[in-house]
Amino acid sequence: MPFDHNDVYHPLLLRLAPAGARRALDVGCGTGTLARKLAARGLDVDAVDPAGEVVAVAEALGSPGPGTVSYRRADVTALSLPSRHYDLVTCVASLHHMPFGTVTALRESLSPGGVLAVLGLAHASTMLDRAVWLGSVPINLLATAVVAAAERLGGGRDPLPRAPIRDWDMSLADVRRESARLLPGSRVRVLPFWRYLLTYRRA
Ligand SMILES: C[S@@+](CC[C@H](N)C(=O)[O-])C[C@H]1O[C@@H](n2cnc3c(N)ncnc32)[C@H](O)[C@@H]1O
Repeated sequence: MPFDHNDVYHPLLLRLAPAGARRALDVGCGTGTLARKLAARGLDVDAVDPAGEVVAVAEALGSPGPGTVSYRRADVTALSLPSRHYDLVTCVASLHHMPFGTVTALRESLSPGGVLAVLGLAHASTMLDRAVWLGSVPINLLATAVVAAAERLGGGRDPLPRAPIRDWDMSLADVRRESARLLPGSRVRVLPFWRYLLTYRRA
């Protein structure tokens, strides 16, 4: 598998699952790496992504159990999600593909005590945000060079289809403002590599 910066944050996301969590929704699951990790921890996962070719790869990779993974080829914004259902909803590098207000539907799908965890991408807005992100540039360049070298040695890129990628247009200030408005009590934490972690726990 090619190196993916987002995968670095999977342990952090897995730790956000509430104790005793049973059901999870992974929005924009791509090839299902996080969904499989959640299933390996015993959660039953609904994994949603409209990219059929990518979901086909995820399905072919199977599920490690003991939890299950059910893949759905769908645009999450067009789905009617079950209410008060999921103990954990994850969105990794996918929220910027849809209107930010989608978090309202995701919030409603959370069970009481359930957690929404968004690993998102946004532009810097303050000097501090910029400092955190600039500090990550050398590591980012090094990681990219190592991966490129490994791919060359291995005879080229991994043949797996890559999930579609889209540029993000919100700034961190936008994310903080919209999170405070739509998810009162949520937290936005700045991470390296132009990423943020938005967390919200339903009362
Ligand atoms: C950058 S990829 C991230 C994939 C995966 N989460 C990962 O970390 O490898 C963004 C994913 O979001 C999916 N996506 C885009 N719009 C979506 C939507 N409206 N509903 C659900 N998924 C969507 C894309 O098809 C793509 O697989």
